[in-house]
Amino acid sequence: MKKTILTLGVTLTLGLILFSCGGGNDNKTTTTNTPTPAAASVSPMDAGQAVFKRTCFACHQADGKGLPNAFPPLAGSDYLLADKFRAVRQVIKGSSGKITVNGTEFNGVMPPQALNDSDIANVLTYVYHSFGNNGPNVSPAEVKSVRDTIK
Ligand code: HEC
Repeated sequence: MKKTILTLGVTLTLGLILFSCGGGNDNKTTTTNTPTPAAASVSPMDAGQAVFKRTCFACHQADGKGLPNAFPPLAGSDYLLADKFRAVRQVIKGSSGKITVNGTEFNGVMPPQALNDSDIANVLTYVYHSFGNNGPNVSPAEVKSVRDTIK
């Protein structure tokens, strides 16, 4: 009789251990799965900020205000905010010659930026929502649509 109770106890304990291990494993599976989608879904804002710091910042400055007589501002730029497709084109093609931003004329050269569609979408989305700007989002598909008209 004692033996049966002992066996029962052991079986129960084993069962519990197995059960909790099973539960633990299930949890582990969920947690190991989480980083993958999280890493894949870096927000457009974060990705765009990285592109900005790598690419645009040297000229347009960290605060997006540009430099007088050299680089026009992106912060509060009426030119930028007026037309997002023109902004996409600006990044793909660059520009040279006169450009008027917030009533001030700039006459410089912005070289074409060798960035892919999603980098351009992200960096413009970032710029449109930074430096006090309140602009639209830009999608990779929109960048592609502009690129297709340029070739
Ligand atoms: C080598 C310097 C340089 C770099 C790098 C550069 N720009 Fe420019 N950008 C300029 C200059 C100069 C102009 C004005 C060009 C002209 O006079 O035609 C300009 C104009 C612009 C304009 C239109 C005017 C305005 O201020 O709204 C936008 C938008 C713009 N740049 C966005 C960007 C973005 C976004 C990046 C990064 C992906 C970038 N630029 C990288 C120099 C640069």
